[in-house]
Amino acid sequence: MKKLPLLLVMGLLVACQTNSSQTGSKQAPPTPTPTDFIEELWYKNGLVYNVDVEVFNDTNGDGVGDFNGLTQRLGYLKALGVETIWLAPFQPTPNQDDGYDISDFYSIDTRLGTSQDFDNFMRQSSQQGIRVIMDLVTNHTSDQHPWFRQARQRKDSPYRSWYVWAKEQPTKWNKGMVFPGVQQAVWTFDKQAGEYYYHRFYEFQPDLNMQNPAVLREMRKITRYWLERGIAGFRVDAVPFLIEVANADFDPDQPIHQFNIITQLHQYSQWHKKDAVLLGEANVDPAEQQDYFGKDGQNMQLLFNFYANQYLFHALATSNIDKFEKALEATKMIPPTAQWANFLRNHDEIDLGRLTNAERRAVYERMGPDTTMQLYDRGIRRRLAPMLGDKRLIELAYSLLFALPGLPVIRYGEEIGMGDDLSLQERLSVRTPMQWSGARNGGFSIAAKPIRPVISQGPYRYTQVNVAAQQADSSSLLNRITQFARLRRQCSEIGWGKWQILPTGSAPVLAIRYNWQGRTLLLVHNFSAEQQSYQVSTSLNGNRKLVDLMTNTPGQVGAAGDYSGQLPAYGYTWFQATQ
Ligand code: NOJ
Ligand code: CA
Repeated sequence: MKKLPLLLVMGLLVACQTNSSQTGSKQAPPTPTPTDFIEELWYKNGLVYNVDVEVFNDTNGDGVGDFNGLTQRLGYLKALGVETIWLAPFQPTPNQDDGYDISDFYSIDTRLGTSQDFDNFMRQSSQQGIRVIMDLVTNHTSDQHPWFRQARQRKDSPYRSWYVWAKEQPTKWNKGMVFPGVQQAVWTFDKQAGEYYYHRFYEFQPDLNMQNPAVLREMRKITRYWLERGIAGFRVDAVPFLIEVANADFDPDQPIHQFNIITQLHQYSQWHKKDAVLLGEANVDPAEQQDYFGKDGQNMQLLFNFYANQYLFHALATSNIDKFEKALEATKMIPPTAQWANFLRNHDEIDLGRLTNAERRAVYERMGPDTTMQLYDRGIRRRLAPMLGDKRLIELAYSLLFALPGLPVIRYGEEIGMGDDLSLQERLSVRTPMQWSGARNGGFSIAAKPIRPVISQGPYRYTQVNVAAQQADSSSLLNRITQFARLRRQCSEIGWGKWQILPTGSAPVLAIRYNWQGRTLLLVHNFSAEQQSYQVSTSLNGNRKLVDLMTNTPGQVGAAGDYSGQLPAYGYTWFQATQ
């Protein structure tokens, strides 16, 4: 064969390469999608622990918990499996709403410690690999905040327009109160200012005017300040009210929302810290959830699932899971980069406002029958353990918390099943000091009179319910929750994967299957006080085996991919499919 000159051969090769890429004969690379980096989003999995420093651990004996006390307990939190601490407000405050009435956004309440104590806490948390997020409470300030003091003093003060005023009493002055029965109005006349000011919450919490660019600038400054001090993100307080367009003529029952405020906050916080998150407190209807997350995930990364929460309590109260399943389905479609935050109880009343009267009555009857246990015509002001009573039901509820689609959030004291003190006002009933041991004041403080009384009577008294006792008891709730947290870490399919509710053939049995890159989880919960048999179609091949992750016992999938099992009263099981 005649040899071709070398230059000609090289020329042909180049031409061929050029041609193949120009004509597209090779396949175009796939377009990247968010699923390609889902595993890098830290808030998809993990455990969040909400702490109120004031009532957690007092180290200087003044009766008030402090940052040094929290720092001392980091090892405890790490052992529990906590990956993120959410700090309740810790800034200077007249404390009329447990710190949600802030009088200086840029410092630490001196009762809780010094600035160095805070930095030390942040440093040590980071050493333990624990992130810290904090409340961002910028819907309102305290009426003692210097901005409001100046605003009410002088009409020509630059701070006047930082708040929302009306010359005449607005017609809707008593519409849209967040605390009905306690709060009388949302517009209150201020003698000093000679005008009415708007407050969605208590009258000592005047709303900031989010239509004022100077206020938005200040909010950005606050977020930047705390991000620079090491904060990993924010639990954004009262989001629907933060973004409502409030003025003298608006209807608080039908506000217009400015979602671009959240978009901007998201962008801004990520400019300063690339993996910073916003966790929104917004009790919204599923029809609105897309706006809150943003169509492409550009708003809140995380939202508390208040909607499903109410139906979960209805299911726990009645053993009827139909509405709860529907609520899960209704909250399923979220952007791939977003995530729900699930909780059982938080520091407020449990809000059952979206249930029908009959449904709410059913929950009241089972969990808060006495009117002293109910609050704001919509909820229950009790801790979880006394609400559910039955140890098996409490365990079921926590298994669900870790098993449901979303990020689990618990509040201090829940892990030991603390009780409530109904003699305290409103929501303070669920905010009593942490019970560490059987020592004086439950080991919280050596002070003669702690900031709030420690529960010392009844079945939930600190001599009975405390960390030390539960650490020594392998069957304690504390050890069970630690186990769930560990299990959840092993099962990242929950945070990353796709899920589906499977028919079980048994009305009170809920089965959820998660799939992530060939891995499968099957989590089954029995909401009834009776033993139940169930059958699910797993979509697995007949030769796959299941292993119960709690007991390490095997299960065999039938030839057609079906699985039949039994659960005791309030029983649950976490199956993983093995290869
Ligand atoms: C929501 C908080 O959860 C609640 O405790 C507080 O009273 C209001 N926002 C007002 O900040
Ligand atoms: Ca102290």
